[in-house]
Amino acid sequence: MRERILAAEVTPAVFRAALTAVPPADRDAWLDWLFGLDTIPEDGPHLPRGCVPYMPCSVDALLRIADDADVRDSDVFVDLGSGVGRAAAVMHLLTGAATIGLEIQPELVRAARNLTSRLNVMRFSVIEGDAARLAGHITIGSVFFLYCPFSGDRLEKVLEDLEPIARTRPIRVCCVDLPLPPRPWLTLAAAPSGDLAIYRSTLLDPAPTTP
Ligand SMILES: C[S@@+](CC[C@H](N)C(=O)[O-])C[C@H]1O[C@@H](n2cnc3c(N)ncnc32)[C@H](O)[C@@H]1O
Repeated sequence: MRERILAAEVTPAVFRAALTAVPPADRDAWLDWLFGLDTIPEDGPHLPRGCVPYMPCSVDALLRIADDADVRDSDVFVDLGSGVGRAAAVMHLLTGAATIGLEIQPELVRAARNLTSRLNVMRFSVIEGDAARLAGHITIGSVFFLYCPFSGDRLEKVLEDLEPIARTRPIRVCCVDLPLPPRPWLTLAAAPSGDLAIYRSTLLDPAPTTP
């Protein structure tokens, strides 16, 4: 069954149908089984003080992001603090988007790269390093996802570095459990839903017409 769901020719629609056929309360366990994520590496000494250890985002929140942020196969989804790559992998399988994970803990980067080879997906890569330093270099990103990897100065730096990207193309910033400091170039794309808030950039919005 696992092989059938993860076969190379599985389309986002088929993957979504398999996932949503599972009762909501069982979806996280089902996904861990599907991805073979039975042992998760311990957080290690490379996690800087003030940064948040690994914890997987719920399937429920990821489904809401796919739908409410309208993630498509033309998008590049960037997970800032990607852990073992679970969220990035789900987003790729659900939407066809290319995904890039940024992760500071080498053991988790290794686990994520193992996951990409187990799943045999091509449009999913993982970069090791501090997401606060790297985010602005991912200029092909169109959807940036943060499941509370950090706050404070690191979060301010990410927003500062995303602004130039938002001058080149509209971007969405999806935050779970993470209040975002306000920026004049970001607005809520929809009313927040529980722990999830989706923002969109406004820098390329057409100028309002005067009557
Ligand atoms: C709450 S987990 C979220 C994992 C993943 N995004 C998900 O939703 O399943 C936060 C992750 O961010 C990583 N992290 C924390 N600070 C980081 C930083 N400065 N740069 C890159 N990754 C970081 C942690 O190692 C951890 O894997």
